[in-house]
Amino acid sequence: MNLKLLFFCLFLAVLLVPAELKRKKHKHHDPGHEGHGPGHKHGKHGKVKVEDILKDLFFEIVEGAWDDDDDDDDDHTNADWVFELQEPDGQCDPNPCLNNGVCEPKGKRKFKCDCPKPFKGKKCQRGPKPCRRGRCGRGECVLTSTPPFYECKCKEPFQPPRCTHLALCEPNPCRNGGQCIKDGTDFDCLCPTGYSGRFCHVGPNDCYVGDGESYRGNVSETDDGNECLYWNSHFILENGADPFNSFEDSDGLGPHNFCRNPDGDQMPWCFFRRGRRLSWDHCDVTECLQPTGVVPMEIVPTDANPTALPSRPTTSEPTATPKPTASKPSTTGTPSQAPQPSPTPTDSPTTASVPQPSPTPTDGPTTASVPQPSPTPTDGPPTASVPPQQFATCGQPQPKKNNARIFGGLKVPPGAAPWQVSLQVRPKNSNQAFRHTCGGVLIESCWVLTAGHCTEQMKDMQVVLGGLSLDLEEPTEQTIQVEEAIVHENYRETPSAVYNDIALLRLKGTDGVCAKETQFVKTACLPDAQLPDGMECTISGWGATEDSQHGSNHLLEANVMLISQEKCSEPEVYGRVLDNSMFCAGHLMGGVDSCQGDSGGPLTCDQNNAKVIYGVVSWGDQCGRKNKPGVYTRVTHFLDWIKSKTQAAS
Ligand code: ARG
Repeated sequence: MNLKLLFFCLFLAVLLVPAELKRKKHKHHDPGHEGHGPGHKHGKHGKVKVEDILKDLFFEIVEGAWDDDDDDDDDHTNADWVFELQEPDGQCDPNPCLNNGVCEPKGKRKFKCDCPKPFKGKKCQRGPKPCRRGRCGRGECVLTSTPPFYECKCKEPFQPPRCTHLALCEPNPCRNGGQCIKDGTDFDCLCPTGYSGRFCHVGPNDCYVGDGESYRGNVSETDDGNECLYWNSHFILENGADPFNSFEDSDGLGPHNFCRNPDGDQMPWCFFRRGRRLSWDHCDVTECLQPTGVVPMEIVPTDANPTALPSRPTTSEPTATPKPTASKPSTTGTPSQAPQPSPTPTDSPTTASVPQPSPTPTDGPTTASVPQPSPTPTDGPPTASVPPQQFATCGQPQPKKNNARIFGGLKVPPGAAPWQVSLQVRPKNSNQAFRHTCGGVLIESCWVLTAGHCTEQMKDMQVVLGGLSLDLEEPTEQTIQVEEAIVHENYRETPSAVYNDIALLRLKGTDGVCAKETQFVKTACLPDAQLPDGMECTISGWGATEDSQHGSNHLLEANVMLISQEKCSEPEVYGRVLDNSMFCAGHLMGGVDSCQGDSGGPLTCDQNNAKVIYGVVSWGDQCGRKNKPGVYTRVTHFLDWIKSKTQAAS
């Protein structure tokens, strides 16, 4: 932990270059008029060469990966330290033991979990690891619900069961009568008319209607030719996403890697692997142009390896049938009855296995003072002059669909964090473009809360509200100049911490109206009580991610847990540098955190059915490191200050 980090934040913020955001093309195709031309055609999509597979470290063959012991002591994913860090003082009620562990109280504040076999760990959080590294050789390990709880999906031309040996065109990997043509160490499928895809597995009439929610076709490649991961891939779970549990409509999901739209996106998409990272993208799938009433041909894969592909979509998942009026896509197509793999028992950090620490009150007036949902933001004059219908409630986001796709952070859907602000700067009185430097939180029409270290008196500042993408001008956005930045009088930086890291930005407006309330722009409520340690809260921002140190173009959010002051002040965490103006929040996985560029942004928690701004992203020792959670300005500590400033100024 050092101040260098802070400077680094600012430096990075200046450098933030919005990456190019790919605009998705919507391809149309008329299922009745397949444009593939007569005769055979090579399956052109996403050709993977044997050489590429051999070079891919992910498919490294690990000696001994097939030994059947289940010694998981090398597993740090659910290591005990995170539990200790957030240990809710040890009571057995509610039961802190996972996977049916039996809790025994030990002394006043401790407990012990008696874990049923094969679970281990302080809270029985560690289970068997069927998909340990190297288990599937040159293949993807997917989880199944029956012993041995995994299966290897070999990368062609590597062969089951272990995907270690290679056989070209034998058996024929090309489906639907496709012809396998050897080409050195590679192969190519020559597909019959109308069929496409690397294995000729995409049939004629394979297209989606509407937003593709009903799509049950066979496309399994992204727009850029990346091969989709199986929905029950261990890799997806290992990276914090859990398709079967987190999406609204998991109907179309199954033990396959076909593109689907289970979460209300605009078209089918899938997860894919980029190096060691989990990513997702829309698919290379065509939109049905004209409802033709033609019933699409069922695709019969020549399944060379039925054991490796236990449930082909042919029987359970016919291609979506475009109906004459495709107004309700969810009723078209037949929902798959493909069995849902049970991701447990595994070592996977599924949502189901993430323990909910039992809330324990901290040093504040906790349980007694349950806050009111604050129907009116504050009692200050600025609010009084705002038309009554404006910002009459706070902390009420748009109901959202789960969109859990990004490791460590989720893409925020429109209106889900309507108080999120992008604080942007440019040299004073210049006409350069404004650049995102920090986050902020709208608490009143004319007031934004941010971190003290985010304000730059020598710069012009503006805030952008209601936007999700930094490099697009969105119709939902409101851009407002900052009239004045008020930094806390006791703001102080030392080499090891930032104290009283809070500031208020007064926005330019007329008659007390600055931001206008819309579906996408709303205020967060102020908290009026401490919240219990272990509570799960949400952070959001455009800051650095695992993938991009320059930050994310799209607003991301993640859940973190409130960590007690006592735990966070332990020597191996932040020691004695913390004071009451800040608190720590982190994640059981240790990997989820705020980062450079998120500063000033919100940590919101639920209080009485509203979202309250409980913390402001402030500092941390790098990002997502073990024992180094994010540190947030403790908003409850500054309530009087906030009220005095917002009221005095109006
Ligand atoms: N100081 C950073 C900023 O200005 C925020 C760092 C947060 N770090 C963390 N590990 N949570 O954006």
